[in-house]
Amino acid sequence: MKRTTVDALDELRRLFDVPVDLQRAMIAAFHDEMSRGLAGGPSSLQMLPTYIDNPTGLERGTFLALDMGGTNVRVLRADLRGDGSAPAPVSRKFSLNRDPITSTGDILFAAVARLIGRFLAENGLDGGYRMGFTFSFALRQRSIDRGELIAWTKGWTATGVEGEDVVEILNRALLREGLAGVRVVSLNNDTTGTHMARAYLDPACDAACILGTGTNACYRERVANIRKPLGPYAHASMIINMESGNFDKALPRNTFDALLDVRSENPGAQSAEKMVSGKYLGELVRLIVADLGGRGVLFGGRLPDVFAVREGFGSERVCEIKEDGTTDAESVRALLADLGAGSIAAEDAQALREIAWIVSDRAARIAASILAATVTKNDPALDRDHTIAVDGSVFEKHPGFRARMEETFRELFGDRAARIRLELTRDGSGLGAAIIAAVADGENPKTQE
Ligand code: BGC
Repeated sequence: MKRTTVDALDELRRLFDVPVDLQRAMIAAFHDEMSRGLAGGPSSLQMLPTYIDNPTGLERGTFLALDMGGTNVRVLRADLRGDGSAPAPVSRKFSLNRDPITSTGDILFAAVARLIGRFLAENGLDGGYRMGFTFSFALRQRSIDRGELIAWTKGWTATGVEGEDVVEILNRALLREGLAGVRVVSLNNDTTGTHMARAYLDPACDAACILGTGTNACYRERVANIRKPLGPYAHASMIINMESGNFDKALPRNTFDALLDVRSENPGAQSAEKMVSGKYLGELVRLIVADLGGRGVLFGGRLPDVFAVREGFGSERVCEIKEDGTTDAESVRALLADLGAGSIAAEDAQALREIAWIVSDRAARIAASILAATVTKNDPALDRDHTIAVDGSVFEKHPGFRARMEETFRELFGDRAARIRLELTRDGSGLGAAIIAAVADGENPKTQE
């Protein structure tokens, strides 16, 4: 490899390093922000009450669930037996194109209501159904069955939804589409859904995390520790949706992060998410490659078009690049040829692969530091076991991501790191919504059958 390339990669490794003292600083800052957020003070962590606690595992009944806010919309029907057996929901994934996401709330929710109608028709379901609703954005809730969207993230921009009750908008759309038999009984964020899906079978589950298009984490907190005003709620503990993607203290921010942020739809917001999640990992790699290309370090100074367009290089490409284990980075070269970059030098392909690893290793270490902070808030010495339910393509698909996270836990806690168990809970957010619907409905006599 050329000296200039070797030096440039060394410099990047330095810029993207997350040594253990920085991990500790992030954890301390995260704990401060958690406390401030729980007290209702200014904090980058909103610490949103969800009005739901871990399930008992005894919840029963048939429920529908709608899961929207990630790459796909999922509709499902789950029969909960409440006997310790894992539910096997019937589900269907629909892809929503960009138009409804960036149009108006009415258009968006009408499209979603039609998908629910399709699911019911395809499965021969008619009559009345109770539905749980996972909406993967920050929600201001005063009860389990309603909540306002605080602000869009992840590039969603449909107008007329921010500040509004999304259950009401969905109910209106269902009525307009002739689906009056579907009644939305609960609302939750995707982290909470994932948490509930795992906790239904595993009482040690006390936190959950999404590492997908966006990122966020939630955990179980004692109500006595929530010092801001709460709506009516009868239990001693409650799951808190931290909106951790917005965490912005003690992060290892560099010039590429700053560049990505100013050009994003939400400058100044979601700082951690922009370092960790799938919507941004590809863009960070692209910005680095464009910089090195522009400086003549890569591609002989002729930057391939695929690196010239904002968000033109997705996180799934970063994933594919990391999967290449050949000495000469042959699959990286083949991938770039497929993307219209022509034939690139093995050395440039190797450098690109190295950049992909540098960017995603930092993401894994930041994600792990956030989760380390989450579980140590109420158990500083890790005296108990903690299952963290995790879902999302970055965690599931990126080579080495889980391994880097676990390595970070070991750097921080030594042998005690074994107390923290990351459990992939695939599509848990949909099933979790059905479980939440069961809990909510069971507590609400007027809606009981
Ligand atoms: C949203 C969160 C959500 C996360 C993962 C973030 O952009 O603000 O509410 O949980 O993405 O989907």
